[in-house]
Amino acid sequence: MKEWTREERYRVLHSADEVRDLYDQIKDSQYRQAYHVQPVTGLSSDPNGFGYHKGIWDLYFQWCPWGAVHGLKYWYHVSSKDLIHWENEGVGLAPDTYYDNKGTHSGSAFSEGDDLYLFYTGNHRDEDWTRTPYTCAAKVGEDRKPVKLDKPLFGPRPDYSEHQRDPKIVYVPSKKKYYIFIGAQNLDLKGRALIYESESLLEGWSFAGELKVPGFEDFGGMWECPCIVNISGKDVLIFSPQYTTLPGRGNSTNHNVYIVGSMDYDTLTFTPEADYQYLDFGFDFYAAQFAANVGDPDKAILIAWIGLPDNHYPTEEEDWEGSMCLPRELRLKNGKLVQSPVEGFAQLRGEEIPAEGKLPAVAEVELTFAGGDADVALFTKADGSGGLTIHYDEAGQVVTVDRTGMNKRFNTNVFEVLDMPLTSPLKKMSVYIDRSSVEIFANDGEETFTTHLYPEKDEFGYQAGDNVAVRIWPLQASNSNEFVI
Ligand code: FRU
Repeated sequence: MKEWTREERYRVLHSADEVRDLYDQIKDSQYRQAYHVQPVTGLSSDPNGFGYHKGIWDLYFQWCPWGAVHGLKYWYHVSSKDLIHWENEGVGLAPDTYYDNKGTHSGSAFSEGDDLYLFYTGNHRDEDWTRTPYTCAAKVGEDRKPVKLDKPLFGPRPDYSEHQRDPKIVYVPSKKKYYIFIGAQNLDLKGRALIYESESLLEGWSFAGELKVPGFEDFGGMWECPCIVNISGKDVLIFSPQYTTLPGRGNSTNHNVYIVGSMDYDTLTFTPEADYQYLDFGFDFYAAQFAANVGDPDKAILIAWIGLPDNHYPTEEEDWEGSMCLPRELRLKNGKLVQSPVEGFAQLRGEEIPAEGKLPAVAEVELTFAGGDADVALFTKADGSGGLTIHYDEAGQVVTVDRTGMNKRFNTNVFEVLDMPLTSPLKKMSVYIDRSSVEIFANDGEETFTTHLYPEKDEFGYQAGDNVAVRIWPLQASNSNEFVI
């Protein structure tokens, strides 16, 4: 693995030419994806500024241009008319002011009238590398280019640690106010969310208080990327708790959870109606964000980073890594989120191909289970061995996904085998394969499982038990993948 100096990681990008060779070098990699949003070069992590504005879905993501390393972060911009086909738009926000001199870190978007507003964390560091996180904003005008405000909306609070970031903005009509949720860590090193309020988007912000979530006072050491949405009259709070292990999640100390409940902006209390649940049971899913301005009270749109902080992926050798998951429609059913690829996604299907033991590199695979314990292995070797194995235990109603059988193994110290407990007997799985990722939607999205996976040339077979019916559709490419900086 390449060792990066701080200077290399925090190098400022001055012109597109500086990464052109890198793009040329990676663009034909067998692991570049066809229908997922991925970085043009370097590393992508959290989705940012996701929302609907004047007929277009804008999405940004954390981007480090230089390689597969967490260094100086930009917001890279992509856009879509349908959440299926994506165009590269180039740099959205660059770390070019005093307040964000060492990174434009994560944040959110809000559309109002003709303007789109971006809220982000300015990651300032002094010469001695002391960090001060500022909550900053930019206004995107007619030309779709963000113009930053001269001054941050507010700085960090002294009674919390330096970990205060990732503004998510919401408007609460009953209060006629905007609220910003900030992920934070208190001085006892416990994860928290802070709430700021204002009657206008770009000024007048004041600290309202700490978000209270009864029962979650000691739940991880930092809550990254908190985000709240209302679906069918209930509030759903998501965040990415860190610095703790959680049941069923191996040795990972980075998670993405949701809690269903109700948010009271008078008392700043989110009252859970049940325990937390995992947003996705896979190996690689983090920093999920709800889109703003969806305009349908019964559904939310969610996107997340396929990847985890601190993890390493085989494409690091090629100087790039990470991608976004498929944007997902979320609905609430019996107190649980049910997820599906966005409406119309099936338009990417090519003609169904016969299920004869070979997998395309870019495909949708539908598995139908007739009952009983079941086994499927995807990406097996020519002799049928290895692969990503999926075992269903009917008595326990749990699916176990195991990636130890793949040639390319990674993050072996974190986890390679995980369970996905189901809420109903396994009937169906829709599996979306895209060169270096696999997303499984079980029972029409009652549970999902997302992972990176790097099959080699001899690993495109599959095996399925007699009680599993297999259908396969190749999928068309839908990301432009052009070199736009
Ligand atoms: C989550 C995170 C955020 C931060 C960003 C920096 O992965 O650590 O809290 O804003 O990444 O890239």
